[in-house]
Amino acid sequence: MTITLITGANKGIGFETARQLLELGHVVYIGARDVERGEKAAAALGARFVRLDVTDDASVSDALAAIDSVEGRLDVLVHNAGILANGVSDGPTALRVFDTNAVGIVRVTEAALPLLRRSDNPTVVTVSSSAGSFWAVTNPDRPEFHLRTAPLYAASKSAATMLTLQYAKSQPGIKFNALEPGFTATDMTAELPFEGGRSPEESARTVVRLATLGPDGPTGTFQDEAGELAW
Ligand code: NAI
Repeated sequence: MTITLITGANKGIGFETARQLLELGHVVYIGARDVERGEKAAAALGARFVRLDVTDDASVSDALAAIDSVEGRLDVLVHNAGILANGVSDGPTALRVFDTNAVGIVRVTEAALPLLRRSDNPTVVTVSSSAGSFWAVTNPDRPEFHLRTAPLYAASKSAATMLTLQYAKSQPGIKFNALEPGFTATDMTAELPFEGGRSPEESARTVVRLATLGPDGPTGTFQDEAGELAW
């Protein structure tokens, strides 16, 4: 049995990732801030619910303690929770965006490390973004080059990718990979001034691929559906 925790999984790409991993036989914990929405999502999928706000240390340690007491370990951790804050750029918003998209990764990873170390095949996946890739934002052929309304998001995703890479280096027994899921129609992208995006179902496939790597799978990579991306 593979024990999996996905943060912010009550909707969007996280919810679809939960659905697909459940189909593959994982025991999936849906981490969500809101008890009602989280329990509803878990019940709809046949997943388990754990209350988890990635910006709240006590909530994170309680969530991992709850999983520890039932399962005794964690095999797969998916950092999916994220916010965009399109068009806003001030100090309080910057703190909120970095707290969620970057510091949240540190909080949840640190609380999860003791449980991950008890797994035979521990794997951590960060749903980052190529909006945070220096290669993509400086390449006029890439859509990220033209996205100029979400600088806090882009910078926080650079940090998310870098944290994932640094954990891969410091934790050689655990796989850490970051990914760009592809432009997806979700509540997050509804904030953007343009429409479009593919289904969360399609984007979740890349998350699932990296969440189901075998023991010899890669670590310290940044990928999209086609394979490795430049930083
Ligand atoms: P979404 O808005 O549907 O999902 C985001 C989830 O994060 C929600 O469940 C939300 O409640 C949760 N969340 C936010 N703050 C939280 C907190 N403090 N604690 C716990 N959960 C929290 O958006 P979407 O698109 O499904 O986003 C999922 C991830 O995919 C995000 O990290 C996003 O940055 C990333 N992504 C999305 C892209 C897209 O085109 N939709 C493209 C690239 C990356």
